[in-house]
Amino acid sequence: MNAFAARQEIFHMSLERFCRHTYGGDSDLHRACTYALQGGGKRVRPLLVTLSNQACGGNPDHAILPALAVELVHTYSLVHDDLPTLDNDTLRRGRATVHVQFSESTALLTGDALLSDAFSLFDPDLGQALGYPSDLSSTQYLAMSLELARAIGGGGMVLGQFEDIACTGGDEGTFDTLLDMHRKKTGKLMAAACVLGGISANASVHQLTMLRTFGENLGIWFQLQDDALDGTPENGKTPHKDLEQGKLTLQRLGGATQAQQILQQHETQVRAAAAQLDPLGHGIQQLVELLAQRRR
Ligand code: IPE
Ligand code: IPE
Ligand code: MG
Ligand code: MG
Ligand code: MG
Repeated sequence: MNAFAARQEIFHMSLERFCRHTYGGDSDLHRACTYALQGGGKRVRPLLVTLSNQACGGNPDHAILPALAVELVHTYSLVHDDLPTLDNDTLRRGRATVHVQFSESTALLTGDALLSDAFSLFDPDLGQALGYPSDLSSTQYLAMSLELARAIGGGGMVLGQFEDIACTGGDEGTFDTLLDMHRKKTGKLMAAACVLGGISANASVHQLTMLRTFGENLGIWFQLQDDALDGTPENGKTPHKDLEQGKLTLQRLGGATQAQQILQQHETQVRAAAAQLDPLGHGIQQLVELLAQRRR
C-alpha cells in the first residue's frame, strides 16, 4: 500500500492517539485492545473511508473518526473470529491471536470493548479530545452510526459469520450460498466503510448507493481472494486452515480452475465499478489495482 503511505501514516497517528486516550489504563483488557489494533493490518477499510470521502470531494479530516470506527469494528470481528469456538486460530498477522497472547475471556471482552468503543467515535467531543475537530452535523454522525450498525449486526456481518460457522465441516453449499455469505460477512462492512466516507463528504443519495454497491462487491471479491490465499505463508495465518476445517470456499465447491475463473469475473466487475467512482484513477482505482496483487 505504498502509494497510500501518507494517508496510512495519518491513520496510524490517529489510531495511536485513540489507543492512548481510550486504552491507556493498566489492565490486560486495554493491553489486548491495543495489541489487536496495532498488529500490522493492511488498513484497507479505513482507506476505503478516506478514498470514498475523496471521490465525493470531501474534506479528508472528516474521514478520520469514521475510519477509526470502521477499523475498530473490523478488529473486533477478527478477535472473535479467531476464538476457539469460531475459527480456532492461533496465528494472525504473523503473531499470536489475542486469546493465545492473553486469554479466551480477555479476547471475548476485547471484542466487546472494540465494538462498543467504535460507536463512541461518532462524537465531535471525542474528535476534539483526540485533536481532530470536525464540523460534521449531528445528522451526519447519526447516519454514520446507523449505516455501520445495520451493516454489522444480525442481518449483516454477524449473520454472515453465523452462516460460515454453520456450514463449516459439512459438504452442503452452492456458489450462490457462498457468495451471499461473503457478501454479508465481508461485503457489508466494506460497503459501510465506503458509505461512511461518502456521508463524511456530504455525498448525494445516488453517490451513496453507488458506494454501497461498490463496497459490497469489493468485499465479496476480497473474501474470495482471502480464501484463495489460504495456503500462502505470507498472509501470517496458519496455512491451509480453511481446507483442514472444511470451510465453504470456491476451492471446496469447484476446484482450482473454476475458482480462478470466478475470482477473475469478480475482479473485472470491481475494476469497472472503481473506474466509475474514480474516473481519474487517483484513489479507489489505484487501491483496486493494489488489491489485485495482494499476497496477504
Ligand atoms: C481479514 O481481513 C478478514 C477478512 C474479511 C478476509 P484483512 O485481510 O483486511 O485483515 P488485516 O486487517 O489486513 O489483517
Ligand atoms: C473473517 O473471514 C470475516 C470476518 C471476520 C467478518 P475469515 O475467517 O476468512 O478471516 P481470516 O482468514 O481468519 O482472516
Ligand atoms: Mg472466519
Ligand atoms: Mg478466520
Ligand atoms: Mg480467511
